[in-house]
Amino acid sequence: EDTTGHPITDEGVRRRDFIHVATGAFVGVGAAAAAWPLVDQMNPSADVLALASIEVDLAPVAAGQAIKLNWRGKPVFVRNLTPAEIAEANKVPISDLRDPQTLAERTKEGKANWLITLGVCTHLGCVPLGAAEGENRGDYGGYFCPCHGSHYDTAARIRKGPAPKNLEVPEYAFTSDTRVQIG
Ligand code: FES
Repeated sequence: EDTTGHPITDEGVRRRDFIHVATGAFVGVGAAAAAWPLVDQMNPSADVLALASIEVDLAPVAAGQAIKLNWRGKPVFVRNLTPAEIAEANKVPISDLRDPQTLAERTKEGKANWLITLGVCTHLGCVPLGAAEGENRGDYGGYFCPCHGSHYDTAARIRKGPAPKNLEVPEYAFTSDTRVQIG
C-alpha cells in the first residue's frame, strides 16, 4: 500500500494487473463473479480504507501520458489529455453514449486535461490497457480492456464492447496546481 503519495512500483502494478486479469481471463464469466469475494478478502477492512487517501505530484506526467497508481488496493489511471484528445471527447454527441457524461462532468473545472479514473473495467473488473506507454488504447483512443474487448474513449467513457458503464471517477481534489489527493 502506498502511503507516501508516490506511484507504486511497476512490480506492484504488475502483480495487481495479474490478479484482475486472471479474474476475468482464465476463470470464465460465471466463475469470475464468484471469484470477486476472494479478491475482496485481500483488501484491508472498510474502517482502514475509509482513512486511506494518497497525494500525488502530477508535474512529471506530460500531455498524452498516463500513470497507474494504487489506491485502496485498486489501480487508478491518471491521464494528462492532449488538446486533441479533449477536443475528441467534447465532439461526441451525448446521445451516442451508453453512459452519458460530458468530459466536464468527469473532470474538475479548469483541469479538463486531468482525467482520473479507476483502472477497473466495469464489465467484470479486468484492468484495461492504455495507461502505460505503447499499450493498446482501443478504437476510441482511451482505454481497451483485453478480457472481453471493451473500448473506452478519451474521457474513459464506454463506447464499444460489453462494459455497461464508464470507468469510474474516484473522489479527488487538487491541493495545488499539480498535486492531487485521491480519496
Ligand atoms: Fe470484460 Fe473488461 S472485464 S471487457
